[in-house]
Amino acid sequence: MARIFITGSADGLGFLAARRLLALGHEVLFHARNAARAQKLRNKLTGPIELVTGDLSDMEQTIALANAVNKAGRFNVHIHNAGVYQANPRTILHVNTIAPYILTCLIHPPQRLIYLSSNMHLQGRFHSAQFEASPNQLTYSDSKFHMVLLAKAIARKWPAVFSNAVDPGWVPTKMGGSGAPDNLEKGYETQVWLATSSEPNAYVSGKYFHHLLERQAHPLTEATDLQEQFLELCKNYSGVKFPG
Ligand SMILES: NC(=O)c1ccc[n+]([C@@H]2O[C@H](COP(=O)([O-])OP(=O)(O)OC[C@H]3O[C@@H](n4cnc5c(N)ncnc54)[C@H](OP(=O)(O)O)[C@@H]3O)[C@@H](O)[C@H]2O)c1
Repeated sequence: MARIFITGSADGLGFLAARRLLALGHEVLFHARNAARAQKLRNKLTGPIELVTGDLSDMEQTIALANAVNKAGRFNVHIHNAGVYQANPRTILHVNTIAPYILTCLIHPPQRLIYLSSNMHLQGRFHSAQFEASPNQLTYSDSKFHMVLLAKAIARKWPAVFSNAVDPGWVPTKMGGSGAPDNLEKGYETQVWLATSSEPNAYVSGKYFHHLLERQAHPLTEATDLQEQFLELCKNYSGVKFPG
């Protein structure tokens, strides 16, 4: 049995992955943005659940969330799933990029890290202007490019941890919309598999997956100088130092 922490698990792909992992007999620490969302989540499930709260658009709450996760013990797997699509650039930066960075830095390292990206990362880029106080130039695609950069940076710096990024496909969640063409179940099966499988294909690091298969991420995400600049800017923006 694995202990698994999933951000944004009150709804959408995070919730579906969490529910599947519970059904498989794993222990899940749920995360909701606030007490009201936590209550809605409890109403959807039968039986008690382990849960932490924190609004990821607020860096202080994200740091407090990391402390709460550490208080709950050590986890084998962290799934950085929470995300926003239609939001202002600052909220996209905080929720999609800075929160996964802060939580990665401050929570005791697990054995496996999974970062939710998107095939839209292929249109994204990383540049320093995205980390200014008013990051007007940041798009959702950029934030998903950041997630592949982060997954690959961690894979390189922490060789004992399996760190990978996932494109779940365009699926019908609150974010994807009811007309999304891809299969909803396939949208979370890769995260469940990377979190728990003992197949050799799942024991890899620094990779980018779609529907259980490794895919080619944007080639620039391999650039170690870019990865280092990204970590440096996340550190300067958040005030949270990368461990080691
Ligand atoms: N759906 C797609 O087609 C698609 C495609 C490519 C990639 N993805 C990625 O897959 C991941 C999951 O997406 P989804 O489709 O499941 O989206 P979703 O249905 O909108 O769910 C997103 C989750 O993130 C949480 N969240 C958002 N902002 C938050 C904040 N400030 N603080 C705390 N939690 C917050 C949401 O909480 P609330 O319920 O409180 O809002 C929700 O639990 C995202 O990273 C997304 O970028 C999705």
